[in-house]
Amino acid sequence: MTSSDTLRLLDFSPDHLPGALRLSQQVSWPHRAEDWALTLSQSTGVVACDGDRVVGTALMSPFGDVATLSMIIVDEALRGRRLGRKLMTAVMDQAADREMRLIATSDGLPLYQKLGFEITGQIKQYQGTISQAEPELAVEEGSTDLDQLAAMDLEATGIDRRDLLGRLCAEGTVLQTDGGFAVLRDFGRGKMLGPIVAKDVPNARALLAAASQRHVGGFLRIDTPNPDLGSFAETLGLAHVGGGTCMVRNAKTQHVTTTFQTFGLVSQALG
Ligand SMILES: CC(C)(COP(=O)(O)OP(=O)(O)OC[C@H]1O[C@@H](n2cnc3c(N)ncnc32)[C@H](O)[C@@H]1OP(=O)(O)O)[C@@H](O)C(=O)NCCC(=O)NCCS
Repeated sequence: MTSSDTLRLLDFSPDHLPGALRLSQQVSWPHRAEDWALTLSQSTGVVACDGDRVVGTALMSPFGDVATLSMIIVDEALRGRRLGRKLMTAVMDQAADREMRLIATSDGLPLYQKLGFEITGQIKQYQGTISQAEPELAVEEGSTDLDQLAAMDLEATGIDRRDLLGRLCAEGTVLQTDGGFAVLRDFGRGKMLGPIVAKDVPNARALLAAASQRHVGGFLRIDTPNPDLGSFAETLGLAHVGGGTCMVRNAKTQHVTTTFQTFGLVSQALG
């Protein structure tokens, strides 16, 4: 029998990815090894190990003065013994005095509230087999102007994710209108459209419609804070399958979105 006192907390390294993947599969999250690796490439973190077996994970992704915390999972056999709290405390220490953001599941919400996180909003997850729509605005494919994309993303999120965006653009397809951009890429069970950064709903709709043309009949997911884009996703055959609660601790940025807003997350892990 495992006692939580006998578990070791170690720095999260790529060697831990197979064990981490086992845990996310145990909670029916769709991440592939590649999805874990992408998040880890932007992060430090900790694992709890019982011998060689990974029984808990937590990641912290620093973006300047802000950190996103994610992939907080405890093996179901070991829950309720304060291991989740230990993992969270370890990554909060790594985040130091940064603003900390996360997207909570209903399992995680009580723990995060106890640790001083406050609710700031909700996101909804839509997914399914996508049917085709005609974009109502012109959409171009394949922008390579990373500075421009990073500037739009910075306005929308208040954080500089240039390095992350560079990786996403290299792996996926960049779609761009006069008023926004999105990246269509492999994730989980099929493809994810994210981030979706746009000036307004018509631009976000056009980006989603353009994605539908490129992936018609395939499995697509978006995670959106915007009800109008969610309703449009439903007209394309995507179903609302869940979501999460946006939370923040140690909020510093008086972030006011001016021109660009987030219509779709990169992922629940990376915001
Ligand atoms: C969320 C999760 C990591 C918590 O792990 P855990 O080891 O069971 O949590 P802990 O035992 O450390 O509990 C931490 C605190 O939250 C409280 N708590 C945990 N679940 C709770 C619940 N459902 N309702 C009320 N309080 C709860 C505990 O009482 C504890 O409080 P305390 O430290 O003051 O006693 C675990 O449930 C899990 O892996 N869930 C599936 C994956 C997931 O959804 N992760 C969250 C992603 S955002």
